[in-house]
Amino acid sequence: MMRFQNYHRLSLPIILVIFSVVLVACSAAEASREEHEAAWEGSAHATDNSVHFEGEVSERCAKCHSTPGYLEFNGANGSTVGEVTQPVPTDQSVKCDACHSEFTWHKTQAVMPSGQLLENLGKNANCMECHQGRASGINVSDALANIDTGDDTVNTEISAPSIHNNPAGPLLYGAEAHGGFEYPGKEYAGRYGHSGEFDRCIACHDAHSLTIDAKRCNACHIKAVDFANFRNIRASNIDYDGDGDNTEGIFREIETIEQRLLEQIELYVQVTEGVEPLVIGGRFTNEAGEPYTTWTPRLLRAAYNYQFSKLSGGAYAHNPQYTLQLLYDSYEDIGGIMRGMTRPE
Ligand code: HEC
Ligand code: HEC
Ligand code: HEC
Ligand code: HEC
Ligand code: HEC
Repeated sequence: MMRFQNYHRLSLPIILVIFSVVLVACSAAEASREEHEAAWEGSAHATDNSVHFEGEVSERCAKCHSTPGYLEFNGANGSTVGEVTQPVPTDQSVKCDACHSEFTWHKTQAVMPSGQLLENLGKNANCMECHQGRASGINVSDALANIDTGDDTVNTEISAPSIHNNPAGPLLYGAEAHGGFEYPGKEYAGRYGHSGEFDRCIACHDAHSLTIDAKRCNACHIKAVDFANFRNIRASNIDYDGDGDNTEGIFREIETIEQRLLEQIELYVQVTEGVEPLVIGGRFTNEAGEPYTTWTPRLLRAAYNYQFSKLSGGAYAHNPQYTLQLLYDSYEDIGGIMRGMTRPE
């Protein structure tokens, strides 16, 4: 009895301490869970995919636009990795499980549309599996491989690959992923090794809200006090676009060359025999919105790189050098006037 009472007296405070530690730990985990949940709720990942799909998401689209599709792609329930075999009902697009499941949380690699396997991606592997676009510069080379009618002759056998969504993953890895069409004989920047380890998706984007906390960028980029100012960031005094302004943000340098490339593409279309006007959006169409058919090899190379850059919101932070190189080389190849312009090393 004595022994029991002693034991009881000594252990009660200890039990209470342990109990309260567990309680605090649980509520801390709960708080962060709730915070992450609220952040995710407000993000594009919580979008109901019925805004894009009627009734179900087809097996061709379910990998990136639905959580069950993404899990099947990653081998859930014994399925073959790399395949989605059935459509799934519409629901919120990218739910907690897409990243937090046993099939995806430890994933560290992803195959890019070029066929290139990228490894050691850590917690970015899931981001890069969906944010990779659906085509690469290699598809452009393949589409032109057996075309021997010359660079400026229309050939209706040419079938153009189209990127579909922002290829942030391949762009970050530049020439290591071959997202853009790389002109033979030119050198291209590889992975964007941004200082201070800001070279991974979730180093800049919050994994749940997907937003970027400008305070963290501001530590080095003193003018980037808020999101609106990101577009004024620049790191060198080189006037890439040759407009005489070497203080504007790198975003503007890219924007100007992109605009010039589009004008040059339009000029090329006008002066090249048999080429119809081309509309470059998420797809390549003629003015009636029908699939585009009057390609020449030179037109496809330039239009593909223009689309690659245009769909790449954030290119100026994801890999400005690689983006500028693709635009510069395309502009040069399609007859642009290069005076004053500088190709990044
Ligand atoms: C490799 C992943 C991936 C695949 C496969 C994919 N998508 Fe997407 N899609 C995305 C991402 C990511 C976005 C978000 C916007 C962005 O990043 O550009 C998107 C955006 C969209 C949008 C809205 C923006 C727009 O372009 O109008 C539609 C509609 C869409 N996808 C339809 C489809 C359809 C239909 C399919 C199947 C034929 C499909 N997607 C296959 C990743 C994919
Ligand atoms: C697009 C992928 C993605 C989605 C979707 C996602 N998370 Fe996360 N989550 C992450 C990543 C990545 C981390 C690690 C963050 C880091 O290391 O900076 C994380 C961390 C966490 C943590 C911190 C504990 C831990 O395991 O590291 C919690 C809790 C959490 N997420 C809950 C949720 C909840 C709840 C949802 C759904 C409402 C959700 N997440 C949706 C990617 C995701
Ligand atoms: C399962 C596929 C998938 C994964 C994994 C994924 N995303 Fe997404 N993401 C999407 C889709 C689909 C959308 C667009 C949703 C919609 O509008 O229907 C999107 C939207 C976004 C957007 C907003 C894009 C815009 O144009 O507004 C950002 C930013 C983003 N994701 C970043 C990330 C990051 C960072 C990660 C990794 C932590 C990640 N995503 C993981 C599929 C994915
Ligand atoms: C150096 C920091 C940085 C890194 C690393 C980074 N991003 Fe971004 N991201 C940005 C900035 C800045 C923007 C553009 C904001 C703007 O100007 O609209 C952006 C834009 C985007 C957008 C388009 C959002 C929109 O509203 O149009 C997507 C999608 C995206 N990033 C996904 C990713 C993915 C996936 C990765 C990893 C492969 C990644 N990002 C890596 C900083 C970064
Ligand atoms: C530790 C310091 C540091 C932090 C923090 C930092 N950067 Fe940078 N950033 C640099 C340096 C140095 C360069 C130029 C060299 C390079 O590319 O690494 C640069 C380059 C850039 C460029 C390209 C400028 C150009 O002219 O090529 C952009 C855009 C950019 N940073 C955006 C961001 C954003 C957005 C964040 C926050 C998510 C951020 N940076 C955080 C140091 C930093």
